[in-house]
Amino acid sequence: MLHRYVVGEKRLASHRVAALSAGLGIALLVAAGACADDSANGLLSRGGPGGVGSEDRGPADGGPGVNNSGPPAEELLFRAVEGDLEQQCGKKCHTDGTYKPLPPTFLAGPDAYKSVKAQPGAIVADYYQSVLLQKGPHAGPAISVDPTFEAKVIAWLKMEAAVIQAMKRPTTDSTSLVLGPNDLDLSKACVGGLTGVHLTFDAALTGGVLSLTKLMIAAPAGTDVHVYKPSFIRVLSKRDSANRKEISDSAESFSNTDQTVPGGAITVLSPGSAFFTAAGWVPFDFASDKVRIEFAKLEPGKVPVLEKPKICKDVAGFTAKVLPSMKGGGGISPDCASCHGAGLAGLSLNNANQSLVCTQILQNLNETDLGKSLLVTKVTAGPHTGGLVNNAANWANLFIANKSVFF
Ligand code: HEC
Repeated sequence: MLHRYVVGEKRLASHRVAALSAGLGIALLVAAGACADDSANGLLSRGGPGGVGSEDRGPADGGPGVNNSGPPAEELLFRAVEGDLEQQCGKKCHTDGTYKPLPPTFLAGPDAYKSVKAQPGAIVADYYQSVLLQKGPHAGPAISVDPTFEAKVIAWLKMEAAVIQAMKRPTTDSTSLVLGPNDLDLSKACVGGLTGVHLTFDAALTGGVLSLTKLMIAAPAGTDVHVYKPSFIRVLSKRDSANRKEISDSAESFSNTDQTVPGGAITVLSPGSAFFTAAGWVPFDFASDKVRIEFAKLEPGKVPVLEKPKICKDVAGFTAKVLPSMKGGGGISPDCASCHGAGLAGLSLNNANQSLVCTQILQNLNETDLGKSLLVTKVTAGPHTGGLVNNAANWANLFIANKSVFF
């Protein structure tokens, strides 16, 4: 990881020189037709999950790249370089993916533009971080193989980046981190009147790589919180050699995060930990660097409430007023317990646990129209293997009159 970073920064410093010298060596590889080391997720410096940042940031029909008639400007710039991309990177490598091992098919048809937008890390807010530029020479050529080609790719990626940047996403302020436990108030990034959401984690530095573990998110009492795709941004104390003040997490560590935290609860912020190994993040410096966290959404949510199983209101009342008549008392026959005493058709009328018995009855009652309950119609209208009750009206009334025992 560190190695890749160094390579990336070196390219940055002596961009053109590197571009030209790399180009010569690579031409041979291209001629040999190789694209071997591009395993399917080899584009990312870190095997990030499948989520794609651009698809929910770059609007299909809005933003500064909008062109009133026809495709947006950023797409036109892609179309202008599409042929070259296919020529340099496509075919059996990144278009058809028939090469072994399988390279990412970010130029796959029917629409290469759709494919490249879906490729994690290809279209990002900081164009220089695009994996297309960061990849460098591999079994295939670096984009810098041809300066004219490279300039076209950069022009396109810059426009894509501008579109993403124009979509202001809710964010926290830039905050310093400390080694060990941290507690960030996320209120600034909240929308919809939400406040008081806290993010806690332990921060550490290993080989210059910032790691956050024990990531927990706490919702304020009384409000469920929906958190969707947070992304960390490194904020530098001064601009770097590429004139950048901020560096996004091109590995998109939280691209799969979509969860709702119950009000007052503290839960793990999925995936629970993150290691910021993306280009431009290493070495992280606690003394001078800050981070801010953007959210696709940090809003009031609703935790789905599982319907509680219904239980009887008044079990003692059931035992006293209803059960005896079901067991042949009060002139009613047949005695239901003679067949349904121990579990037949889900009824255990002889069970000592009266609460359980009452609940079984309750499940066969129709609260809004007790007369239409299965427990009534089964033995008043049938068909019922155990036969019909001797007095249909009395039987229905046993439940209607004692409704408060159940509901
Ligand atoms: C002679 C045995 C016998 C007696 C007595 C008897 N039943 Fe049944 N009951 C059955 C059998 C067998 C079934 C299952 C087959 C069927 O649905 O007819 C059944 C099914 C039921 C079901 C359907 C349950 C379901 O989930 O579909 C209900 C309700 C029911 N009985 C209520 C009663 C009530 C109330 C009484 C007393 C008034 C009673 N039974 C008396 C034998 C009996």
